[in-house]
Amino acid sequence: MTLNRSKIAIVGCGFVGSSTAFSLLTQGVCDEIVLIDINKEKAYGEVLDLKNSIEYLNRNTKVVVGSYEDCKDVDIVVITASAPMVENQEQNRLTMLESSKKIVKSIVEPIMKSGFDGHFIIISNPVDIMAYYVYKLSGLPKNQVIGTGTSLDSARLKNFIADLVHVDPRSVYAYTMGEHGDSQMVPWSCVTIGGKAFYDVIEDNKDLVGDINLDGLVHETTRAGWEILNRKGTTYYGIATSTVGIIKAILNDENKIIPVSTLLEGEYGEEGIFCGVPVVLNRTGASDVLEIHMREDEMEKFKRSANIIRESISKLGM
Ligand code: 2OP
Repeated sequence: MTLNRSKIAIVGCGFVGSSTAFSLLTQGVCDEIVLIDINKEKAYGEVLDLKNSIEYLNRNTKVVVGSYEDCKDVDIVVITASAPMVENQEQNRLTMLESSKKIVKSIVEPIMKSGFDGHFIIISNPVDIMAYYVYKLSGLPKNQVIGTGTSLDSARLKNFIADLVHVDPRSVYAYTMGEHGDSQMVPWSCVTIGGKAFYDVIEDNKDLVGDINLDGLVHETTRAGWEILNRKGTTYYGIATSTVGIIKAILNDENKIIPVSTLLEGEYGEEGIFCGVPVVLNRTGASDVLEIHMREDEMEKFKRSANIIRESISKLGM
């Protein structure tokens, strides 16, 4: 009897990759984790360290070092390898395109040669452009190529809103959409706190929240990654856990709506780009794009962000 084992490969064993592996392990998400890195010794060190935690967890997970050739029977490949944000003087992910493009190409080609036909989850920045690049390089159907997109930004926004109104971030329903970067936007007309419109919450609680600067909140969200990086040198817990949230939605066939970077084919009036929008995630991957109704001014901001992504994608020369 061949058991239907779930197998996740993580390419890149730096802070993000090892944190993603640790999050998978502690949450007991899959049967096997394969760590792939050009530095085999680093990968092996992470495997040894991760295995030491299994004794105290609720589920045993096989953790091994692997190579691109081992990806044939892998369900999901997470690509974390990227140009390092820490050296990004402009603190703008779009400037990482050329160096990340080389790294991602060197990863995707051998993995596709292995016969891989599962799902790619791309973390590498600039993630919207890198997700498009993986889609083009791999030739996989669009639902099998997913960028983490604004999944992390949305979690950050929800944190900021939750702190303002003193609720659990999970009781805030909010997205950021567009580029995982400075041009992302927030459709405030769709934000609710426990189902109550955010605008009504701040109107009814002026004594508690005072006059909120919504643009300031968006700016705080778009810069949050750099605020962390400027203090600890990089970010990893947030992006790792967001990625595992996406993996769980796929492996467990959850039909969960998460804002990720997916190929738009007319939705929101855009096509031919990967862009952060609410997506239904299930066993097929990026199953459906949820088209929320935005105000005209919000649509304009979204379109501006989509155009910034489109302009960067054109630099791929594909
Ligand atoms: C971040 O914003 C890694 O781009 C990711 O933390």
